[in-house]
Amino acid sequence: MANDIMEKIVSLCKRRGYVYPSSEIYGGINSCWDYGPLGAELKNNIRRFWWKSMTYFRDDIEGLDASIIMHPRVWEASGHVDGFTDAMVDCRKCKLRFRVDEVSGKSCPDCGGELTEARLFNLMFRTHIGPVEDDASIAYLRPETAQGIYVNFLNVLNTSRRKVPFGIAQIGKAFRNEVTPGNFIFRMREFEQMEMQYFVKPETAQEWLETWRKERMQWYVKLGIKAEKLRFHEHTEDELPHYASRAFDIQYEFPFGWKELEGIHNRTDYDLKNHSKSSGKDLEYFDDSTGERFIPYIVETSAGVDRTLLTCLVDAFEEEENRVVLRLSPEIAPVKVGIFPLVKRDGMPEIAKKIAAQLRRHMKVFYDEGGSVGRRYRRQDEVGTPFCVTVDAQTIEDDTVTLRNRDDMKQVRLKVSELPGRLGELMQGEENTQ
Ligand code: GAP
Repeated sequence: MANDIMEKIVSLCKRRGYVYPSSEIYGGINSCWDYGPLGAELKNNIRRFWWKSMTYFRDDIEGLDASIIMHPRVWEASGHVDGFTDAMVDCRKCKLRFRVDEVSGKSCPDCGGELTEARLFNLMFRTHIGPVEDDASIAYLRPETAQGIYVNFLNVLNTSRRKVPFGIAQIGKAFRNEVTPGNFIFRMREFEQMEMQYFVKPETAQEWLETWRKERMQWYVKLGIKAEKLRFHEHTEDELPHYASRAFDIQYEFPFGWKELEGIHNRTDYDLKNHSKSSGKDLEYFDDSTGERFIPYIVETSAGVDRTLLTCLVDAFEEEENRVVLRLSPEIAPVKVGIFPLVKRDGMPEIAKKIAAQLRRHMKVFYDEGGSVGRRYRRQDEVGTPFCVTVDAQTIEDDTVTLRNRDDMKQVRLKVSELPGRLGELMQGEENTQ
């Protein structure tokens, strides 16, 4: 059943232009995926929804866009060179490789083969900077975007004249040479993160952790995800990442089980202290109202763009008797409105094209005049388009069109001149509640 639903979603994504296997004409490359026209749009909408919630709707967070390749010493100071490893085992029979936590207490899951001793495997991708490939030129592709924020802490603090508590938000690619990628875009080797690092007084870190975990849970609900499919998981002592004193995951119930969607961590002063020691730069914060000096604690919220996108698709996917429908919230749906002439004659296409041209200035529109109107509605339902406008014979008489709602399939008639306003209202429902 679980695989069945995932297979249907993967197939819909491929068929309708959400996600394609990367380098497909060469047979694909394991764990890499490309976003097609609709996927690229959905991804942009998710990024924007996050970016606005962090940097527009509140007054204590600045944005940043740091480079992917950083000084290699960043990754020594952060603990990633020594500590960002997975223990892995190989099966002597089928030659497959597994993470130890996937197979602990078992022989090789499918073939029953004997497993090798565990070995540690660093997840960072390595490359070389410049023409000489020696130890001195080693560089890493960042495995998290967070470090770009820590090394810019003083820059942002000074240029934005912020006071603790404040945050820095960033969206960008991260790379991990995962031992076992899989489940479509759930675990990839190249993926994108939306991370926010919130700098606080040490004694307030626990309180902020609580605040942020509530905020972040709310964000997913506002994004349109069903609340009953979301839950928290607190990390036990042995699950904690190397940098965190306390950590919560927001988990979603995917068809393949409850899995992490986002990590919310109290990173203490671990990162700034280590970067301060390693770089020799004083990263202390001076509070001029109290005269205190301290290294701020960091409360981090770390979400995956691709994983959020997968969650939106899985959560929105429904098979009804006569149609497949993606109930994406209007704010993130790739196409907001489909515009159709009922038939391809009697001046209807001309009017419909004019309406499409007007609406395009405000939102993503799809014009379609091919096939029966019922089929055109179904095609838009399947990709999640929340509204469709149809021009028919009555339009020519009284300048009205039908506006159809994807979710209940109900239609209302309204004046063409009322369309931009009505659609704008319908679209911004979620945004206004942020
Ligand atoms: N800065 C902290 C950090 O990176 P993480 O729990 O390792 O924490 C945060 O990752 C989020 O990044 C995850 O919850 C997930 O959404 C996303 N993520 C991590 N590894 C991923 C992968 N291989 N493929 C897709 N998304 C991934």
